[in-house]
This record gives sequence, C-alpha cells and structure tokens, in this order.
Amino acid sequence: MSDIILKNIDKYFDGNHVLKDIHLHIEEGEFMTLLGPSGCGKTTILRIIAGLEDPEHGVVYMGDTCVVEAKDKLFLSPAKRDLNLVFQSYALWPHMTVFENVSFGLDVQKLPKKQIRQKVEDALERMQIKHLLDRSPSELSGGQQQRVAIARAIVTEPKILLLDEPLSNLDAKLRIEMRAELKRLHHELQTTIVYVTHDQIEALTLSTRIAVFFAGELIQVDTPKKLYEQPKDMRVAEFIGNPSINLLLGDIEEAAGRSKLHTSLGTLAFTRNVPSPKQVMMALKPEDILIQQQPSQHGVQGVIYSVLPAGAETFIQVKVDDQLLMAKVSGDVHFMINTLVWVTCFLKKVNVYDIETNELIPIEQVTYTESNVSLIGNG
Ligand SMILES: Nc1ncnc2c1ncn2[C@@H]1O[C@H](COP(=O)(O)OP(=O)(O)OP(=O)(O)O)[C@@H](O)[C@H]1O
Ligand SMILES: [Mg+2]
Repeated sequence: MSDIILKNIDKYFDGNHVLKDIHLHIEEGEFMTLLGPSGCGKTTILRIIAGLEDPEHGVVYMGDTCVVEAKDKLFLSPAKRDLNLVFQSYALWPHMTVFENVSFGLDVQKLPKKQIRQKVEDALERMQIKHLLDRSPSELSGGQQQRVAIARAIVTEPKILLLDEPLSNLDAKLRIEMRAELKRLHHELQTTIVYVTHDQIEALTLSTRIAVFFAGELIQVDTPKKLYEQPKDMRVAEFIGNPSINLLLGDIEEAAGRSKLHTSLGTLAFTRNVPSPKQVMMALKPEDILIQQQPSQHGVQGVIYSVLPAGAETFIQVKVDDQLLMAKVSGDVHFMINTLVWVTCFLKKVNVYDIETNELIPIEQVTYTESNVSLIGNG
C-alpha cells in the first residue's frame, strides 16, 4: 500500500502557525496536487511527508506504516520512507555527470550495468535530455538541471514521488511537453504522486485531485472538474481560472418561496428560498459571459471597454453599471471599443458566495425573472 494519510497536522515556525489542523488522505496511485499562493504551506506539507520537517501535532501514515506520531515524538527518518523527492530548488551532485547523477539510485540497488544504462537512457529520453548525458551539472541551464532532477527521481520507479514545482524553470513550450510526460509516466507506473505548484493550469491538467491551501489551511480537496465548476470558497474561485473570475455584488430579496438576486446583470430568481445574508457575491467565469451586438432577451446594456485578441480566443472587457467584467470568447471576434452591447450570462454556471464566510451558498439553479425582460432594448 502506498497511500498517505495526514491527520491533525499542525506546524509552527518561530511561533507562526503555518499549517493548521490539516487532514488529507492521498490514495494509492493518485496524482494529488497541493495548490495555493506563495507561502501557504505547500512545501512544508511535502517536507513533512518526506520526513525533512517534523510537525508539532498530528499523525502521518504511509500505507500501514505510521511514520509520524507527534505526541510520542515518533518521526521515521526520510531514508526509511519509500519515496523520492524533487525539490523546488533541485540539488544535483556537482562532481558527477548527468548519467552518474541519474544512475546513482540504481547503482545503490546493484542492478546489472546494462540494465542501469537502459533505464537511465529511457529516463533522460523522456525528459528530452539524453544528449546531455556526459555533461556535468555546471554545464547545464536551469531547466536542463531541473529535468535531470526529475529523471533521477523517476528512474528508480518509486512507489511515492514527491515533486515540488518541478517545472518552474522551464519555458512555456517545454513546460507543456513535460506536463504531458509526467502524466504519461503516472499512467504507466501508477505511482502515487504528490505534486506542488502555484500554477492552477498545471494543477487542473495533471491531477486526479487537487488540495487547495490558503494561509496554512486546507480549503478544498476535489477533482479538477469539481474544483473548477464549483469552488466551495470564494478565495478558491478567485484563485482558479485565467483570467480571473468576475465577482458581482448582489442583493437578496425574499419573494414568494423563491429568493431573488438583484445584480448589475439583472434580477435572477432562485428555484427556492435560499437561506443567505442580504448581500452576496455572484461569481461568473469569463467564458460564461455572453456579449451580443444586438438587443437580446434578458440582456443588460454594457459598453466595450477593451478587446484583447489572443489567437484562439479573445478576451473582452465590458463595462456594466460601472463594473468591468471580463469575458472570454473563442475565436477572433470583432468588437469596437466604446460600442454599446448586450450582456447575459450562462445561468447554469453561476455560483453565489456568502461575503462574510466566503462559503458557496447551495442554490441548485437560478433563472431570469420576468421583470428582466423589460431590460431588452432599454434605452
Ligand atoms: N525553515 C523555516 N523557518 C521559518 N519559517 C519558514 C520555514 N520554512 C517555511 N517557513 C514559512 O512557512 C510558511 C509556509 O512556507 P512554505 O515554504 O511551505 O510555502 P509554499 O506554499 O511552498 O510557498 P511557495 O509557493 O512560495 O514555495 C511561509 O510563511 C514561510 O515563510
Ligand atoms: Mg514552496
């Protein structure tokens, strides 16, 4: 078994509470990504799993083995945990060639020379650096060194692989290629991978599940799809998605068994009465905003503020009621700055948050109210 269970983990640095009561079950064979802004505690979690940092409270299991029991001061040494780690700042052995760096783990296992050569070459080929095999680390770029570090970690086919921002030094094109390699590798080896990144696209593309951290707290653990479509917390909603989600302040009105929500995009009706505060935040992804040049049913008027073509898609900023909204449209669309447009949104995609607790309010669905129709062609 190579699942990892963290329970009640608390970690302090110089009196700062950097991990707060973390519970996380990483299942065998999972690709679990720890995601969150800089300083939220991702690396610290990884180091606790690896045994390089000891928590003040909590328990860690790897399979059936208890590797940390803080109250009994039980902390199994890193060497006794069957895992491999690639750090955010990778350290290659400077006096060894690329080949020797990668083969080291296999030499220790005393595999036949020919088999070692084959495995090392396969790992280097996967990372597109086989031609660099005789170089020393000082003769490599940062991105090449980073790939050697990954090759060194995967060559022994460990049961658990811990990766801390392993692609951070690569250019955009190479990063996408390496993501694909990591995903294939995970598929082939079925290794349990714990992956740290603050890049939400990387998290969404690679993971079987994502754990989102803010300021030492674990906020949500979900599949990429669920996390993208229904962030449980407004901070997660703001963090996921590029460009950022649109947040519109709304007023709630109780009305005949169906609460109404008044926003700058018109009045919406919930399918039932929703217990919520008087004011909420409506979250809308850029791709869920629809902009039309003609008056449309339920459309509210807006003015094009800026148009940003990006090849396969176009980002459009539209001003509605003094609020700038960001829309994303596929293809190359032509809107002139300062022209009048009509704006609607895909109601199935609307999420509503409590502005005090940041929590998602369970609304089931919203519909446009009849009163909104009067907005058509208004002015
Ligand atoms: N050895 C240390 N001594 C004191 N404080 C530390 C130490 N290591 C980490 N911290 C603090 O703990 C918090 C969490 O750090 P951590 O490195 O886990 O963040 P992170 O999420 O990996 O950030 P990044 O994305 O920038 O790598 C930060 O506030 C950091 O300053
Ligand atoms: Mg880090």
